[in-house]
Amino acid sequence: MSNTQTNNIYPIFDRMMGREDKETLLKQRSVMVWFTGLSGSGKSTVAIALERELHQRGLLCRILDGDNIRSGINNNLGFSAEDRVENIRRIAEVSKLFIDTGVITIAAFISPNNELREMASSIIGKENFLEIYVNTPIEECERRDVKGLYAKARKGEIKDFTGVSAPFEAPEYPALSLDTSVLSLEESVNKLLELILPKVRV
Ligand code: ADX
Repeated sequence: MSNTQTNNIYPIFDRMMGREDKETLLKQRSVMVWFTGLSGSGKSTVAIALERELHQRGLLCRILDGDNIRSGINNNLGFSAEDRVENIRRIAEVSKLFIDTGVITIAAFISPNNELREMASSIIGKENFLEIYVNTPIEECERRDVKGLYAKARKGEIKDFTGVSAPFEAPEYPALSLDTSVLSLEESVNKLLELILPKVRV
């Protein structure tokens, strides 16, 4: 004998806890902060300083950058156009997991063209996606040459190097542009906080 009452019961414990549950637990809302810009433009430096400020305000963040992604999950990928797509696709999928865990997720990758960034945004969800263009001029990135890679690229020792022998396409409508040759680190972070805090505070 079927019992319509029990047949229609869908216990809440048969589903995973969702984003809203996590956000309630963490007392914050999650958002994707997606930095794009040339190598040496200051993406990771700004991302790290931003994380520190958000953390001090009791907000849980996760940074994804070359150090923790290209050395691990993406250590089989190089810099061909194809590999850059796969690099960004995996980063976007991983970011989505963090976003769905209620975590403010900060990605710092060159992500050199609109198609790549649009792919990331559509995986993660446009409504969650803040595109931040670190538009430090290439002359300044090259002058810094923190990793010595521009010098090598100019000598032809690295091929497909973004800005030298591979293209970089500027975003059309970034939520914010930061030129770290003009702005101090504190000024960049303050602009970011102004944009992000109203979106993540409950
Ligand atoms: S992306 O284009 O696929 O988004 P990603 O941000 O992951 O690039 O990696 C860029 C970093 O890899 C650079 O900051 C630099 O340290 C290093 N790198 C090594 N080879 C290249 C290259 N050919 N082009 C750009 N960056 C390179």
